[in-house]
Amino acid sequence: METKKAFNIEDFDIKLNTDYVGRNFIYCEEIDSTNSFLMKDEEFQENGTVLLTEFQTKGRGRLDRTWTSAKEQNLLFSILLNKNVSLKKINLYNLTTALSIGMALENLFQLKPEMKWPNDVLVNRKKIAGILCDSVVQGKTVKKLIIGIGINVNQVSFAGKYRMPPTSIRNEVKRLISRERLLSELLNIFEENIERLKTEPEKLLDEWRDRSKLIGEKIWIIEGNRELFGLFKDVDKQGRLILQVGDKTEVISSGDLVIKK
Ligand code: BTN
Repeated sequence: METKKAFNIEDFDIKLNTDYVGRNFIYCEEIDSTNSFLMKDEEFQENGTVLLTEFQTKGRGRLDRTWTSAKEQNLLFSILLNKNVSLKKINLYNLTTALSIGMALENLFQLKPEMKWPNDVLVNRKKIAGILCDSVVQGKTVKKLIIGIGINVNQVSFAGKYRMPPTSIRNEVKRLISRERLLSELLNIFEENIERLKTEPEKLLDEWRDRSKLIGEKIWIIEGNRELFGLFKDVDKQGRLILQVGDKTEVISSGDLVIKK
């Protein structure tokens, strides 16, 4: 089987059109977790820094889960934002990132990605990408926001147990994918969307809604030790999920949406 070798920074850089996202680019072969590193680190302070690795020894997922990924096959990276991040909109960064991944998959591979609240990207109801946001907040100021992204790109088989069945771009489009081209496309879209988040957040939310097939469906939500079943009515201006449970409306800001067949 054709395999892909280490990430080629030149191929990535040549297609990068951003002002600041990815302009400070750090590549490393192995690390515990790109999110954990940027959270602890005090050296890399440049807004938009991207840290990409080929392998994580302690890759983290949401809700204290682990994120495993085969070496050199996928995209594992974190973006550091430390300027003008609005605390009020902090949850919207999840949705905006998921939307940006979705748009990149549409543009490059004509896939039909689906947004699963708050920040998963699915293709054919299988998980193709996950996002983990970590932040340092002091008072009302977001000192730093780290957006960690894992995209299954060229991995073809996934051993182990998963809550959501995984897939990769390669499995969906049946060819080897350029990780370099995908990353540049994604960062170009991401920077544009992050800027739009300041000026037209409602439009971005509409674009996210357009790709969320679950709005209007009955869903389960696990929030801490609460389990709720109800109608997924909408997401509000802050990206929170509005759930109709009987005659009560619940507003959920973080949790796990469970799709039951
Ligand atoms: C999830 O779906 O639970 C989120 C997965 C996020 C994984 C990425 S891989 C790069 C970054 N570093 C980590 O340790 N996690 C995120």
